[in-house]
Amino acid sequence: MEYVLGVDLGTSAVKVLLVSKTGDVVDEASESYPLYHDQPGYSEQDPEDWVKATKAAIKTLTDKLDDKKAIKGMSFSGQMHGLVLLDEDKKPLRRAILWNDTRTTEECREIETMVGIDTLHSETKNPALEGFTLPKILWVKKHEPEIFEQADVFLLPKDYVRYRISGDVSMDYSDAAGTLLLNVEKKVWSTVMCEKTGVDISLCPALVGSYDLTGTVQASFASETGLSTDCQVFAGGADNACGAIGAGILQDGLTLASTGTSGVVLSYEETGDKDFAGQVHYFNHGDPEAYYTMGVTLAAGYSLSWFKDTFAKDISFEELVAEANASTVGAKGLLYTPYIVGERTPYPDSQIRASFIGAHASHTRGDFARAVIEGITFSLNESVDIFRAKGKTINKVVASGGGAKSDLWLQIQADVFDAEVVTLQNEQGPGMGAAILAAVGTGWFTDLKSCANAFVQYGKSYQPIEANKQAYQQLFSLYQQIYNQTKSISHDLAAFR
Ligand code: XUL
Repeated sequence: MEYVLGVDLGTSAVKVLLVSKTGDVVDEASESYPLYHDQPGYSEQDPEDWVKATKAAIKTLTDKLDDKKAIKGMSFSGQMHGLVLLDEDKKPLRRAILWNDTRTTEECREIETMVGIDTLHSETKNPALEGFTLPKILWVKKHEPEIFEQADVFLLPKDYVRYRISGDVSMDYSDAAGTLLLNVEKKVWSTVMCEKTGVDISLCPALVGSYDLTGTVQASFASETGLSTDCQVFAGGADNACGAIGAGILQDGLTLASTGTSGVVLSYEETGDKDFAGQVHYFNHGDPEAYYTMGVTLAAGYSLSWFKDTFAKDISFEELVAEANASTVGAKGLLYTPYIVGERTPYPDSQIRASFIGAHASHTRGDFARAVIEGITFSLNESVDIFRAKGKTINKVVASGGGAKSDLWLQIQADVFDAEVVTLQNEQGPGMGAAILAAVGTGWFTDLKSCANAFVQYGKSYQPIEANKQAYQQLFSLYQQIYNQTKSISHDLAAFR
Protein backbone atom coordinates (compact mmCIF):
# COMPACT_ATOMS: atom_id res chain seq x y z
CA MET A 1 0.00 0.00 0.00
CA GLU A 2 1.25 3.51 -0.85
CA TYR A 3 0.10 6.78 0.70
CA VAL A 4 0.32 10.56 0.45
CA LEU A 5 -0.08 13.17 3.19
CA GLY A 6 -2.41 16.16 2.86
CA VAL A 7 -1.34 18.80 5.37
CA ASP A 8 -4.01 21.44 6.09
CA LEU A 9 -2.37 24.34 7.95
CA GLY A 10 -5.40 26.15 9.36
CA THR A 11 -5.79 29.15 11.66
CA SER A 12 -6.39 27.21 14.86
CA ALA A 13 -4.81 23.84 14.05
CA VAL A 14 -2.96 21.73 11.53
CA LYS A 15 -4.76 18.61 10.31
CA VAL A 16 -2.83 15.92 8.45
CA LEU A 17 -4.61 13.27 6.35
CA LEU A 18 -3.02 9.95 5.41
CA VAL A 19 -4.61 9.08 2.08
CA SER A 20 -4.35 5.84 0.09
CA LYS A 21 -4.04 5.46 -3.68
CA THR A 22 -7.81 4.91 -3.86
CA GLY A 23 -8.55 8.17 -2.07
CA ASP A 24 -9.46 6.65 1.30
CA VAL A 25 -8.54 8.64 4.38
CA VAL A 26 -6.78 5.86 6.27
CA ASP A 27 -5.83 7.96 9.28
CA GLU A 28 -5.70 11.58 10.40
CA ALA A 29 -4.11 13.62 13.16
CA SER A 30 -4.50 17.18 14.33
CA GLU A 31 -2.53 19.54 16.56
CA SER A 32 -3.58 23.03 17.60
CA TYR A 33 -1.52 26.17 18.22
CA PRO A 34 -2.18 29.53 19.85
CA LEU A 35 -3.34 32.77 18.27
CA TYR A 36 -1.99 36.02 19.70
CA HIS A 37 -4.26 39.07 19.89
CA ASP A 38 -1.92 41.53 21.66
CA GLN A 39 -4.03 44.54 20.68
CA PRO A 40 -7.59 44.87 19.34
CA GLY A 41 -7.55 43.89 15.66
CA TYR A 42 -4.19 42.12 15.92
CA SER A 43 -3.98 38.43 15.02
CA GLU A 44 -0.58 36.75 14.97
CA GLN A 45 1.01 33.32 15.17
CA ASP A 46 4.51 32.04 15.84
CA PRO A 47 5.74 30.18 12.71
CA GLU A 48 7.71 27.84 14.98
CA ASP A 49 4.37 26.68 16.49
CA TRP A 50 3.19 25.61 13.01
CA VAL A 51 6.37 23.61 12.47
CA LYS A 52 6.18 21.91 15.89
CA ALA A 53 2.49 21.05 15.45
CA THR A 54 3.03 19.71 11.92
CA LYS A 55 5.89 17.50 13.11
CA ALA A 56 3.79 16.18 16.01
CA ALA A 57 0.75 15.44 13.81
CA ILE A 58 2.87 13.62 11.20
CA LYS A 59 4.62 11.62 13.92
CA THR A 60 1.26 10.51 15.33
CA LEU A 61 0.52 9.00 11.92
CA THR A 62 3.95 7.47 11.19
CA ASP A 63 4.13 5.91 14.68
CA LYS A 64 1.21 3.69 13.68
CA LEU A 65 2.64 2.75 10.28
CA ASP A 66 5.04 -0.20 9.90
CA ASP A 67 6.34 0.81 6.47
CA LYS A 68 7.02 4.55 6.74
CA LYS A 69 8.56 4.56 3.26
CA ALA A 70 5.05 3.88 1.96
CA ILE A 71 4.37 7.62 2.32
CA LYS A 72 5.49 8.67 -1.15
CA GLY A 73 4.64 12.35 -1.16
CA MET A 74 3.08 15.24 0.72
CA SER A 75 1.47 18.56 -0.10
CA PHE A 76 -0.19 21.44 1.69
CA SER A 77 -3.25 23.59 2.06
CA GLY A 78 -2.57 26.85 3.86
CA GLN A 79 -4.43 29.63 5.62
CA MET A 80 -4.03 32.47 3.11
CA HIS A 81 -2.41 35.92 3.20
CA GLY A 82 -0.35 35.62 6.44
CA LEU A 83 2.95 37.52 6.29
CA VAL A 84 6.06 35.55 7.29
CA LEU A 85 9.09 37.87 6.96
CA LEU A 86 12.46 36.11 6.83
CA ASP A 87 16.01 37.42 7.19
CA GLU A 88 18.90 36.31 4.96
CA ASP A 89 19.36 33.16 7.07
CA LYS A 90 15.68 32.40 6.45
CA LYS A 91 14.80 32.97 10.11
CA PRO A 92 11.45 34.65 10.89
CA LEU A 93 12.01 38.29 11.89
CA ARG A 94 8.76 38.57 13.85
CA ARG A 95 5.54 36.65 14.42
CA ALA A 96 3.38 36.09 11.34
CA ILE A 97 0.58 38.64 10.80
CA LEU A 98 -2.51 36.64 9.83
CA TRP A 99 -5.35 36.95 7.32
CA ASN A 100 -7.84 37.97 10.06
CA ASP A 101 -5.66 40.80 11.41
CA THR A 102 -7.34 44.15 10.73
CA ARG A 103 -4.65 46.70 11.70
CA THR A 104 -3.94 47.78 8.11
CA THR A 105 -6.95 49.89 7.03
CA GLU A 106 -4.67 52.93 6.58
CA GLU A 107 -2.24 50.95 4.40
CA CYS A 108 -5.14 49.73 2.22
CA ARG A 109 -6.21 53.32 1.49
CA GLU A 110 -2.54 54.24 0.81
CA ILE A 111 -2.27 51.37 -1.70
CA GLU A 112 -5.38 52.64 -3.51
CA THR A 113 -3.87 56.14 -3.73
CA MET A 114 -0.36 55.01 -4.72
CA VAL A 115 -1.53 52.51 -7.36
CA GLY A 116 -4.92 53.87 -8.45
CA ILE A 117 -8.04 51.71 -8.26
CA ASP A 118 -8.12 50.83 -11.99
CA THR A 119 -4.47 49.70 -12.05
CA LEU A 120 -4.96 47.82 -8.77
CA HIS A 121 -7.84 45.86 -10.30
CA SER A 122 -6.19 45.27 -13.68
CA GLU A 123 -2.89 44.12 -12.12
CA THR A 124 -4.11 42.12 -9.11
CA LYS A 125 -7.82 41.50 -9.95
CA ASN A 126 -8.58 42.15 -6.28
CA PRO A 127 -9.49 44.95 -3.88
CA ALA A 128 -7.08 46.21 -1.20
CA LEU A 129 -8.35 44.47 1.95
CA GLU A 130 -6.87 44.45 5.44
CA GLY A 131 -6.46 40.68 5.30
CA PHE A 132 -4.18 40.63 2.25
CA THR A 133 -0.36 40.48 2.49
CA LEU A 134 0.84 43.70 0.84
CA PRO A 135 -0.86 46.00 3.41
CA LYS A 136 0.90 43.96 6.14
CA ILE A 137 4.30 44.41 4.42
CA LEU A 138 3.69 48.17 4.27
CA TRP A 139 2.62 48.18 7.93
CA VAL A 140 5.88 46.53 9.04
CA LYS A 141 7.89 48.89 6.81
CA LYS A 142 6.19 51.90 8.45
CA HIS A 143 5.94 50.76 12.08
CA GLU A 144 8.93 48.43 12.48
CA PRO A 145 11.57 49.82 10.07
CA GLU A 146 14.45 48.18 11.97
CA ILE A 147 12.82 44.76 11.34
CA PHE A 148 11.90 45.53 7.76
CA GLU A 149 15.48 46.52 6.92
CA GLN A 150 16.62 42.98 7.68
CA ALA A 151 13.96 41.33 5.50
CA ASP A 152 15.32 39.17 2.70
CA VAL A 153 12.17 37.42 1.49
CA PHE A 154 8.54 36.91 2.55
CA LEU A 155 6.59 33.67 2.57
CA LEU A 156 3.01 32.63 3.33
CA PRO A 157 2.27 30.24 6.24
CA LYS A 158 2.27 26.89 4.43
CA ASP A 159 5.34 27.91 2.37
CA TYR A 160 7.31 28.54 5.54
CA VAL A 161 6.39 25.09 6.92
CA ARG A 162 7.30 23.56 3.55
CA TYR A 163 10.64 25.41 3.61
CA ARG A 164 11.37 23.82 6.99
CA ILE A 165 10.56 20.38 5.56
CA SER A 166 12.33 20.51 2.19
CA GLY A 167 14.58 23.59 2.37
CA ASP A 168 12.97 25.15 -0.71
CA VAL A 169 11.94 28.84 -0.63
CA SER A 170 9.02 29.38 -3.00
CA MET A 171 5.32 30.22 -3.19
CA ASP A 172 2.60 28.68 -5.34
CA TYR A 173 0.41 30.83 -7.60
CA SER A 174 -2.90 30.21 -5.79
CA ASP A 175 -1.48 31.57 -2.52
CA ALA A 176 0.62 34.30 -4.21
CA ALA A 177 -2.66 35.58 -5.71
CA GLY A 178 -3.74 36.68 -2.21
CA THR A 179 -0.70 38.88 -1.64
CA LEU A 180 -1.86 41.76 -3.88
CA LEU A 181 1.61 41.66 -5.47
CA LEU A 182 0.90 39.07 -8.17
CA ASN A 183 -0.32 39.86 -11.65
CA VAL A 184 -2.99 37.16 -11.38
CA GLU A 185 -3.77 36.95 -15.08
CA LYS A 186 -0.13 36.75 -16.26
CA LYS A 187 1.11 34.69 -13.27
CA VAL A 188 4.17 36.87 -12.59
CA TRP A 189 5.09 39.20 -9.71
CA SER A 190 3.73 42.62 -10.62
CA THR A 191 6.54 45.12 -11.18
CA VAL A 192 3.85 47.83 -11.30
CA MET A 193 2.53 46.93 -7.82
CA CYS A 194 6.05 46.65 -6.40
CA GLU A 195 7.27 49.92 -7.90
CA LYS A 196 4.18 51.95 -7.02
CA THR A 197 4.07 50.73 -3.41
CA GLY A 198 7.84 50.82 -2.84
CA VAL A 199 8.32 47.10 -2.28
CA ASP A 200 11.61 45.68 -3.61
CA ILE A 201 10.61 42.83 -5.95
CA SER A 202 13.53 40.78 -4.60
CA LEU A 203 11.43 40.28 -1.44
CA CYS A 204 9.10 38.08 -3.51
CA PRO A 205 10.06 34.38 -3.62
CA ALA A 206 10.22 32.09 -6.68
CA LEU A 207 6.79 31.11 -8.03
CA VAL A 208 5.79 27.47 -8.51
CA GLY A 209 2.73 25.45 -9.52
CA SER A 210 0.67 23.74 -6.80
CA TYR A 211 1.77 20.19 -7.63
CA ASP A 212 5.32 21.09 -8.66
CA LEU A 213 8.02 19.12 -6.88
CA THR A 214 9.87 21.34 -4.39
CA GLY A 215 12.35 18.80 -3.04
CA THR A 216 12.25 15.86 -0.66
CA VAL A 217 12.03 15.66 3.14
CA GLN A 218 15.32 16.86 4.67
CA ALA A 219 17.22 14.48 6.98
CA SER A 220 16.53 16.45 10.20
CA PHE A 221 12.76 16.62 9.59
CA ALA A 222 12.76 12.95 8.55
CA SER A 223 14.49 11.82 11.75
CA GLU A 224 12.03 13.77 13.92
CA THR A 225 8.89 12.55 12.14
CA GLY A 226 9.72 9.09 10.86
CA LEU A 227 9.17 10.16 7.25
CA SER A 228 11.58 8.85 4.62
CA THR A 229 14.04 11.28 3.00
CA ASP A 230 12.66 9.94 -0.31
CA CYS A 231 9.22 11.38 0.47
CA GLN A 232 8.54 14.03 -2.19
CA VAL A 233 7.32 17.48 -1.19
CA PHE A 234 4.90 19.28 -3.53
CA ALA A 235 4.20 23.01 -3.34
CA GLY A 236 0.55 23.05 -2.21
CA GLY A 237 -2.12 25.72 -2.47
CA ALA A 238 -4.25 28.30 -0.70
CA ASP A 239 -6.91 26.77 1.57
CA ASN A 240 -9.72 27.97 -0.65
CA ALA A 241 -8.04 26.58 -3.80
CA CYS A 242 -7.51 23.27 -1.98
CA GLY A 243 -11.11 23.35 -0.70
CA ALA A 244 -12.18 23.68 -4.34
CA ILE A 245 -9.97 20.78 -5.45
CA GLY A 246 -11.16 18.62 -2.54
CA ALA A 247 -14.77 19.31 -3.60
CA GLY A 248 -14.05 18.55 -7.26
CA ILE A 249 -14.55 22.16 -8.44
CA LEU A 250 -12.47 21.57 -11.55
CA GLN A 251 -14.68 22.57 -14.45
CA ASP A 252 -16.75 25.51 -15.60
CA GLY A 253 -20.28 25.52 -14.14
CA LEU A 254 -19.24 24.11 -10.77
CA THR A 255 -19.49 26.29 -7.68
CA LEU A 256 -18.67 25.62 -4.02
CA ALA A 257 -20.71 27.07 -1.14
CA SER A 258 -18.81 26.44 2.02
CA THR A 259 -20.17 27.50 5.40
CA GLY A 260 -17.57 27.29 8.12
CA THR A 261 -17.10 30.10 10.63
CA SER A 262 -16.99 32.30 7.55
CA GLY A 263 -18.73 31.41 4.32
CA VAL A 264 -17.28 31.21 0.86
CA VAL A 265 -18.89 30.98 -2.56
CA LEU A 266 -16.27 29.97 -5.05
CA SER A 267 -16.66 29.40 -8.77
CA TYR A 268 -14.31 27.82 -11.32
CA GLU A 269 -13.03 30.19 -14.03
CA GLU A 270 -11.32 29.06 -17.24
CA THR A 271 -9.60 32.41 -17.81
CA GLY A 272 -8.01 35.17 -15.77
CA ASP A 273 -9.05 38.05 -18.00
CA LYS A 274 -12.52 38.91 -16.65
CA ASP A 275 -13.15 42.19 -14.90
CA PHE A 276 -15.10 41.92 -11.63
CA ALA A 277 -13.87 45.41 -10.60
CA GLY A 278 -12.66 44.03 -7.28
CA GLN A 279 -16.23 43.13 -6.20
CA VAL A 280 -15.18 39.53 -5.58
CA HIS A 281 -11.78 37.88 -5.11
CA TYR A 282 -10.23 36.52 -8.32
CA PHE A 283 -7.42 34.06 -7.64
CA ASN A 284 -5.31 31.44 -9.43
CA HIS A 285 -6.56 27.87 -9.00
CA GLY A 286 -4.35 24.89 -8.08
CA ASP A 287 -5.22 23.64 -11.57
CA PRO A 288 -2.37 25.32 -13.53
CA GLU A 289 -4.54 26.67 -16.34
CA ALA A 290 -7.47 27.81 -14.23
CA TYR A 291 -8.68 30.55 -11.88
CA TYR A 292 -11.53 30.93 -9.41
CA THR A 293 -13.70 33.78 -8.25
CA MET A 294 -14.77 33.94 -4.64
CA GLY A 295 -17.06 35.94 -2.39
CA VAL A 296 -16.72 35.85 1.40
CA THR A 297 -19.38 36.17 4.12
CA LEU A 298 -17.39 36.87 7.27
CA ALA A 299 -19.90 35.49 9.79
CA ALA A 300 -21.68 32.51 8.21
CA GLY A 301 -21.62 29.56 10.63
CA TYR A 302 -20.43 32.10 13.20
CA SER A 303 -23.80 33.93 12.98
CA LEU A 304 -25.67 30.74 13.90
CA SER A 305 -23.25 29.76 16.68
CA TRP A 306 -23.41 33.34 18.07
CA PHE A 307 -27.22 33.17 17.98
CA LYS A 308 -27.27 29.79 19.69
CA ASP A 309 -24.74 30.78 22.36
CA THR A 310 -26.63 33.97 23.09
CA PHE A 311 -30.29 32.89 22.88
CA ALA A 312 -30.44 29.08 22.87
CA LYS A 313 -27.60 27.84 25.05
CA ASP A 314 -29.75 25.16 26.65
CA ILE A 315 -30.58 23.26 23.44
CA SER A 316 -28.53 21.44 20.79
CA PHE A 317 -27.90 22.68 17.24
CA GLU A 318 -30.22 19.93 15.97
CA GLU A 319 -33.02 21.18 18.24
CA LEU A 320 -32.45 24.78 17.15
CA VAL A 321 -32.56 23.77 13.47
CA ALA A 322 -35.76 21.77 14.17
CA GLU A 323 -37.31 24.95 15.62
CA ALA A 324 -36.21 26.83 12.48
CA ASN A 325 -37.76 24.08 10.36
CA ALA A 326 -41.11 24.66 12.06
CA SER A 327 -41.05 28.28 10.85
CA THR A 328 -41.86 29.18 7.24
CA VAL A 329 -40.12 30.58 4.16
CA GLY A 330 -39.19 34.17 5.09
CA ALA A 331 -39.43 33.42 8.85
CA LYS A 332 -42.89 35.01 8.98
CA GLY A 333 -41.58 38.35 7.76
CA LEU A 334 -38.22 38.50 9.54
CA LEU A 335 -34.91 39.31 7.83
CA TYR A 336 -31.38 39.03 9.22
CA THR A 337 -28.13 40.44 7.81
CA PRO A 338 -25.09 38.50 9.06
CA TYR A 339 -22.79 41.48 9.65
CA ILE A 340 -21.90 40.76 13.30
CA VAL A 341 -18.16 41.20 12.57
CA GLY A 342 -18.47 43.49 9.53
CA GLU A 343 -18.61 42.16 5.96
CA ARG A 344 -16.41 41.44 2.91
CA THR A 345 -18.61 40.60 -0.11
CA PRO A 346 -20.21 42.58 -1.63
CA TYR A 347 -19.66 45.31 1.00
CA PRO A 348 -16.04 45.43 2.21
CA ASP A 349 -17.03 47.30 5.39
CA SER A 350 -15.47 46.53 8.76
CA GLN A 351 -17.91 48.85 10.61
CA ILE A 352 -21.27 47.54 9.32
CA ARG A 353 -23.20 45.50 11.88
CA ALA A 354 -26.04 42.97 11.76
CA SER A 355 -29.79 43.66 11.87
CA PHE A 356 -33.01 41.76 12.42
CA ILE A 357 -35.73 43.60 10.48
CA GLY A 358 -39.45 42.96 10.86
CA ALA A 359 -39.67 41.42 14.35
CA HIS A 360 -43.26 41.20 15.63
CA ALA A 361 -44.99 39.96 18.76
CA SER A 362 -45.77 36.51 17.30
CA HIS A 363 -42.19 35.70 16.39
CA THR A 364 -40.61 32.79 18.23
CA ARG A 365 -36.99 31.76 18.74
CA GLY A 366 -37.43 29.30 15.85
CA ASP A 367 -38.41 32.15 13.51
CA PHE A 368 -35.28 34.06 14.54
CA ALA A 369 -33.12 30.96 13.95
CA ARG A 370 -34.75 30.52 10.53
CA ALA A 371 -34.08 34.19 9.72
CA VAL A 372 -30.40 33.70 10.67
CA ILE A 373 -30.04 30.67 8.37
CA GLU A 374 -31.85 32.48 5.55
CA GLY A 375 -29.81 35.68 6.08
CA ILE A 376 -26.51 33.79 5.86
CA THR A 377 -27.74 32.15 2.65
CA PHE A 378 -28.85 35.51 1.21
CA SER A 379 -25.39 36.85 1.93
CA LEU A 380 -23.81 33.91 0.06
CA ASN A 381 -26.31 34.53 -2.73
CA GLU A 382 -24.95 38.08 -3.15
CA SER A 383 -21.81 36.41 -4.55
CA VAL A 384 -23.83 34.01 -6.74
CA ASP A 385 -25.70 37.09 -8.02
CA ILE A 386 -22.45 38.90 -8.92
CA PHE A 387 -21.14 35.83 -10.76
CA ARG A 388 -24.39 35.49 -12.73
CA ALA A 389 -24.45 39.21 -13.56
CA LYS A 390 -21.04 38.67 -15.23
CA GLY A 391 -22.50 35.90 -17.38
CA LYS A 392 -21.51 32.84 -15.37
CA THR A 393 -23.77 29.82 -15.40
CA ILE A 394 -24.36 28.55 -11.88
CA ASN A 395 -26.53 25.48 -12.02
CA LYS A 396 -24.77 23.11 -9.64
CA VAL A 397 -23.47 24.10 -6.21
CA VAL A 398 -21.46 21.75 -4.01
CA ALA A 399 -22.27 22.47 -0.36
CA SER A 400 -19.74 21.90 2.39
CA GLY A 401 -19.23 22.86 6.04
CA GLY A 402 -21.97 23.34 8.65
CA GLY A 403 -24.52 24.38 6.02
CA ALA A 404 -24.19 20.96 4.39
CA LYS A 405 -25.13 19.08 7.56
CA SER A 406 -28.81 20.04 7.67
CA ASP A 407 -31.54 19.08 5.19
CA LEU A 408 -33.31 22.35 5.95
CA TRP A 409 -30.28 24.51 5.21
CA LEU A 410 -29.43 22.54 2.05
CA GLN A 411 -32.98 22.99 0.74
CA ILE A 412 -32.84 26.73 1.59
CA GLN A 413 -29.58 26.95 -0.38
CA ALA A 414 -31.15 25.23 -3.42
CA ASP A 415 -34.19 27.55 -3.21
CA VAL A 416 -32.20 30.77 -2.68
CA PHE A 417 -29.41 29.98 -5.19
CA ASP A 418 -31.97 28.62 -7.69
CA ALA A 419 -29.55 25.78 -8.46
CA GLU A 420 -29.11 22.10 -7.73
CA VAL A 421 -27.22 21.72 -4.43
CA VAL A 422 -25.21 18.53 -3.81
CA THR A 423 -23.30 17.32 -0.77
CA LEU A 424 -19.97 15.51 -0.58
CA GLN A 425 -20.12 11.87 0.55
CA ASN A 426 -17.00 11.98 2.69
CA GLU A 427 -16.21 15.61 3.30
CA GLN A 428 -12.58 16.25 4.23
CA GLY A 429 -12.18 19.92 3.28
CA PRO A 430 -8.92 21.48 2.07
CA GLY A 431 -6.76 18.61 3.45
CA MET A 432 -8.20 16.37 0.72
CA GLY A 433 -7.29 19.02 -1.88
CA ALA A 434 -3.71 18.95 -0.54
CA ALA A 435 -3.67 15.13 -0.73
CA ILE A 436 -4.93 15.31 -4.33
CA LEU A 437 -2.07 17.71 -5.18
CA ALA A 438 0.39 15.19 -3.72
CA ALA A 439 -1.29 12.27 -5.54
CA VAL A 440 -0.97 14.07 -8.88
CA GLY A 441 2.57 15.24 -8.05
CA THR A 442 3.76 11.71 -7.34
CA GLY A 443 2.40 10.63 -10.72
CA TRP A 444 -0.51 8.46 -9.52
CA PHE A 445 -2.77 10.55 -11.76
CA THR A 446 -2.03 12.72 -14.78
CA ASP A 447 -4.13 15.69 -13.68
CA LEU A 448 -6.30 17.03 -10.86
CA LYS A 449 -9.56 16.18 -12.60
CA SER A 450 -8.82 12.47 -12.99
CA CYS A 451 -7.63 12.28 -9.38
CA ALA A 452 -10.71 14.14 -8.06
CA ASN A 453 -12.94 11.79 -10.12
CA ALA A 454 -11.40 8.90 -8.22
CA PHE A 455 -11.20 10.54 -4.76
CA VAL A 456 -14.35 12.74 -4.54
CA GLN A 457 -17.90 11.34 -4.48
CA TYR A 458 -21.07 13.41 -4.35
CA GLY A 459 -23.88 12.52 -1.97
CA LYS A 460 -27.46 13.86 -1.72
CA SER A 461 -28.95 16.29 -4.23
CA TYR A 462 -31.47 19.09 -3.55
CA GLN A 463 -33.50 20.77 -6.32
CA PRO A 464 -35.14 24.21 -5.94
CA ILE A 465 -38.83 24.10 -4.97
CA GLU A 466 -40.60 26.51 -7.34
CA ALA A 467 -42.87 28.27 -4.80
CA ASN A 468 -40.03 28.71 -2.29
CA LYS A 469 -37.70 29.97 -5.01
CA GLN A 470 -40.16 32.67 -6.02
CA ALA A 471 -40.73 33.80 -2.43
CA TYR A 472 -36.98 33.92 -1.79
CA GLN A 473 -36.44 36.05 -4.91
CA GLN A 474 -38.74 38.70 -3.44
CA LEU A 475 -37.20 38.38 0.02
CA PHE A 476 -33.68 38.64 -1.43
CA SER A 477 -34.45 41.96 -3.10
CA LEU A 478 -35.69 43.28 0.28
CA TYR A 479 -32.59 41.86 1.98
CA GLN A 480 -30.36 43.67 -0.54
CA GLN A 481 -31.80 47.03 0.53
CA ILE A 482 -30.77 46.59 4.16
CA TYR A 483 -27.05 47.36 3.79
CA ASN A 484 -27.50 50.86 2.37
CA GLN A 485 -30.39 51.65 4.69
CA THR A 486 -28.54 50.63 7.87
CA LYS A 487 -25.00 51.68 6.92
CA SER A 488 -24.86 55.14 8.47
CA ILE A 489 -26.78 54.09 11.62
CA SER A 490 -24.38 51.15 12.03
CA HIS A 491 -21.31 53.34 11.54
CA ASP A 492 -22.59 55.95 14.04
CA LEU A 493 -23.27 53.22 16.60
CA ALA A 494 -19.53 52.38 16.55
CA ALA A 495 -19.01 55.20 19.08
CA PHE A 496 -21.10 53.23 21.63
CA ARG A 497 -19.51 49.80 21.13
C1 XUL B 1 -9.51 34.20 2.03
C2 XUL B 1 -9.33 34.31 3.50
C3 XUL B 1 -9.62 33.15 4.34
C4 XUL B 1 -8.38 32.48 4.77
C5 XUL B 1 -8.72 31.53 5.90
O1 XUL B 1 -9.35 35.39 1.36
O2 XUL B 1 -8.93 35.33 4.02
O3 XUL B 1 -10.48 32.23 3.71
O4 XUL B 1 -7.76 31.84 3.70
O5 XUL B 1 -7.74 30.62 6.09
